[in-house]
Amino acid sequence: MPHPRWDRIWTDVNLATMTDASLGIIEDGAIVSTGGRIAWVGRRADLPEAGKRMAGDIIRCGGAWLTPGLIDCHTHIVFGGDRSGDFRRRLRGESYGDIARAGGGIMSTVRATRDASNEELTVRAVARGAELAAWGVTTIEVKSGYGLDLPTELRMLDVAAGLADHLPVDISPTLLAAHAIPPEYAGRRAGYVRLVIDEIIPAALEQGRATAVDVFCEDIAFTPAESRAILEAGIGAGLHGRLHADQLSDLGGGALAAAAGARSADHVEYLSRDGVRAMAAAGVCAVLLPGAAYTLGADRRPPVGTLRQAGVTMALATDANPGSSPITNVGVILNLACILFGLTPEEALFGFTAAAARVLGLEADRGTLQPGKWADLALWNVRDLAELCYWVGASPLRSLVKHGVPRALGQSM
Ligand code: NIG
Ligand code: FE
Repeated sequence: MPHPRWDRIWTDVNLATMTDASLGIIEDGAIVSTGGRIAWVGRRADLPEAGKRMAGDIIRCGGAWLTPGLIDCHTHIVFGGDRSGDFRRRLRGESYGDIARAGGGIMSTVRATRDASNEELTVRAVARGAELAAWGVTTIEVKSGYGLDLPTELRMLDVAAGLADHLPVDISPTLLAAHAIPPEYAGRRAGYVRLVIDEIIPAALEQGRATAVDVFCEDIAFTPAESRAILEAGIGAGLHGRLHADQLSDLGGGALAAAAGARSADHVEYLSRDGVRAMAAAGVCAVLLPGAAYTLGADRRPPVGTLRQAGVTMALATDANPGSSPITNVGVILNLACILFGLTPEEALFGFTAAAARVLGLEADRGTLQPGKWADLALWNVRDLAELCYWVGASPLRSLVKHGVPRALGQSM
């Protein structure tokens, strides 16, 4: 049988294929791409000779480590303005919740985002996305949620999707119209919930950008009943469901995500044992966001040991946003995951690849190094993969490959 044409081979490389919890390691391996997808993965010694002769490009990696391109499955990188004012207030002792109730917090970013042009939003978000890409990220989930009206929510989804024109990444936009009750609806919460369900979700579906719906379930945001109604409306319309759950208090968010059929419950510092059980039974992933726990000085940690025991898939993400996690450095997040949350380096790296793909419903074509998936690759200048979690500072990324093509790092606008 004639050999399919091979475009590119990376060889003399150690592979973390992420096909199992011990990262599916193949030392002294090789990986081949054809048409942007992975055509072959294995030990270098097993690489078929015929294919080697047909490769357009052979890249010798000198024993470096290769992982799938990282997947940041929870970000809010499209927004206007900044929250340095909140930062100062928190340093003086005000809490995230107090600031939000006083009209700061998310609402101050909503005002700045409504005032910003698409061009302004894009330029700032591209810079943030470029920092993620410099850390090996090739897929970014981006949430709306700083518009809280129909036109601005759609505009945010449009800007998010457009980031892929400027960066070597795929974007997975999520509708988070239920991030806060906007001031226009003060005292009329039910009216805003109706607006989200009856108008914003259908309009987002018609626009065709969003692939998921998310809700901030918290006493400063949406009640469990409101959250459930919005989640079920979005999931019923064909979107993946996500939930900001049990971050600042235990509102039964984990169990709610399970009952509504969501793919993930995110934050989960206050997740109860019952919540863990419900998530395990329903196959709901936990998305751990140590950047927010660190920034807000959270007094609780997610129940990592219980989640682990119950076999709940744990993903990890930056939660990059102006308020609770102003962090686009993936190394800091990997480090915090280990030190603050007690993840092993393997759990942290699995959480930023295979588990994250599952959260986004993209596991069929990314997150592991397996034939048929996108050849989205990150090549690292490290001798031990734990170094990705251990050093805090500059990115050890040597090369980023998107759809089989090595990409220059740095932004293009
Ligand atoms: O994931 N918790 C709600 N949403 C974001 C924070 C957004 C903000 O403070 O602007 C989060 O932490
Ligand atoms: Fe968030």
